[in-house]
Amino acid sequence: MDRWKFFAITHADHVVCNPMSVEALEELVDLLELPPRARVLDIACGKGELLVRLVEQYRVRAVGVDLSPPFVRDLRHKVVMRVPDADLEVLEMDGAEYRGDPGSFDLACCLGASWTFDGHAGTLRALSGFVRPGGLVLVGEPFWRRSPEQGYLASNGLRADQFGSHVDNVAAGVRAGLTPVYAMPRPVEDFDRYEALQWRAVDRWARANPDDPDLPALRERMIHERDEYLTWGRDTLGWGLYLFRR
Ligand SMILES: C[S@@+](CC[C@H](N)C(=O)[O-])C[C@H]1O[C@@H](n2cnc3c(N)ncnc32)[C@H](O)[C@@H]1O
Repeated sequence: MDRWKFFAITHADHVVCNPMSVEALEELVDLLELPPRARVLDIACGKGELLVRLVEQYRVRAVGVDLSPPFVRDLRHKVVMRVPDADLEVLEMDGAEYRGDPGSFDLACCLGASWTFDGHAGTLRALSGFVRPGGLVLVGEPFWRRSPEQGYLASNGLRADQFGSHVDNVAAGVRAGLTPVYAMPRPVEDFDRYEALQWRAVDRWARANPDDPDLPALRERMIHERDEYLTWGRDTLGWGLYLFRR
């Protein structure tokens, strides 16, 4: 089935499309302490809750980039409903193709989409290029809680060298010449909620759309991902937020 349809259905109830709680999002927004009218870039912004909250709290001027048509639609609707006067540009495009002015942002973010820049190091490099000296780089990135079993890697197609540990994720910023300002490895309960919200969303959608031709494929994939998470992912893969200063 269409991948954007899959994500729109499975993430229908997610405020943030990542394994972080709404409380963690609130904490993060407070921690950023941005000056009014700061310029913010969010690559792979999803439904844009972070950007909208940054506008609400700091009146930032922002650019959000995402490839998913339903998520971009959702964000545009959210802007109209919550921050209609915002200086917030929403671009439906590949984040790797975005060409903003180098050094022109106070904060550049990419939460949970480092594949866009070929991994964590590439994401740090790309985002650093967008922020002014003294500006902030914020990434959300997976980390290994323990060495992944072969069965897990075979099941999800990941490689062991694709992610590092939580410590590695901080160290990569230092290697990129950035100063670590804060790190928030999320507890497993955040991952549990992120996964289980998808089960519930699929259950609801299936009952509302019993004749949809995509339902069998949707169910099959959701069951595969659920079992994979419960068998391996829950004990193996973590996710954290990493804030650096350029
Ligand atoms: C795990 S979600 C995170 C969304 C958002 N950052 C959040 O925290 O709610 C990953 C996002 O990356 C977007 N995405 C995937 N590949 C992309 C690309 N090449 N360029 C831009 N966005 C992309 C997806 O549409 C999705 O919104």
